[in-house]
Amino acid sequence: MSGFSADWLALRGPADARARDTGLGVRLGAHFAGRNRLRVLDLGAGRGANLRATAGLIGASQHWVLADNDAALLARAEPMPNTTVEFREVDLAAGVAGLFDPAPDLLTASAFFDLCGSEWIDRLVAAVASCGAAFYAALTYDGRGDWLPPHPLDAEVLAAFHADQKRDKGLGPALGPGAHAHLSARLRGQGYGVFEAASDWCLTQSADAELIAVLAQGSAAAVAGTVGSERAEIWLASRIGAERVTIGHRDLLALPPK
Ligand SMILES: C[S@@+](CC[C@H](N)C(=O)[O-])C[C@H]1O[C@@H](n2cnc3c(N)ncnc32)[C@H](O)[C@@H]1O
Repeated sequence: MSGFSADWLALRGPADARARDTGLGVRLGAHFAGRNRLRVLDLGAGRGANLRATAGLIGASQHWVLADNDAALLARAEPMPNTTVEFREVDLAAGVAGLFDPAPDLLTASAFFDLCGSEWIDRLVAAVASCGAAFYAALTYDGRGDWLPPHPLDAEVLAAFHADQKRDKGLGPALGPGAHAHLSARLRGQGYGVFEAASDWCLTQSADAELIAVLAQGSAAAVAGTVGSERAEIWLASRIGAERVTIGHRDLLALPPK
């Protein structure tokens, strides 16, 4: 068990799919145009959301390696047309070397890198660059959380949420909202061409009430130890009915130097 429930990943799935930047997806497909077969390594693959969203962007037939330490989540992932899938139940804290033999053509992950620490990311980027793989990270949280109408406790709760985000989740003290910028800088440092775009969740009470409610509950639980359970409860009571919620994410595509 990883702490990411299958129900939570299923609930956020449609918002994730809507939020992904389509332009980067097209650019990813163009990068692999003309290839017959690719090997793709998906880190923190969970129940296969990234496979479902990404496989159709690439014309070639693909062999996906889905790596996660949660066997119950992996068991819910299924192949897509044009793909074969291999499941690897691994703790990525031990490194990725065993997943790079054979080397992937594409290293990808979704909703994952904000969980990672800087040293872990640096080792990963070095491994990616050494084999010249393309790199595609979708839906990395970027620190923005706007709940409308506003509440006086929003700023305090967001700051506490960011402190919680930076806890060590097993891959070093997590970069949280800083992960995207760190990835981008390290990949540029390896000579990669980096393309970035926003992939925000744009939620409305009329369309996404359950996701807003569960997001508010999870956020309140995460900050209760910092802001106090009474203030967290006050914030939660108002945020469950928020009319609009924007949660900032970034997508990043990095292509190796020619
Ligand atoms: C937020 S979920 C994202 C899942 C999936 N990529 C998606 O977009 O729905 C983060 C995933 O990272 C996995 N994970 C976290 N820490 C891990 C570790 N140390 N080793 C392997 N997987 C890990 C979790 O099990 C979970 O499936």
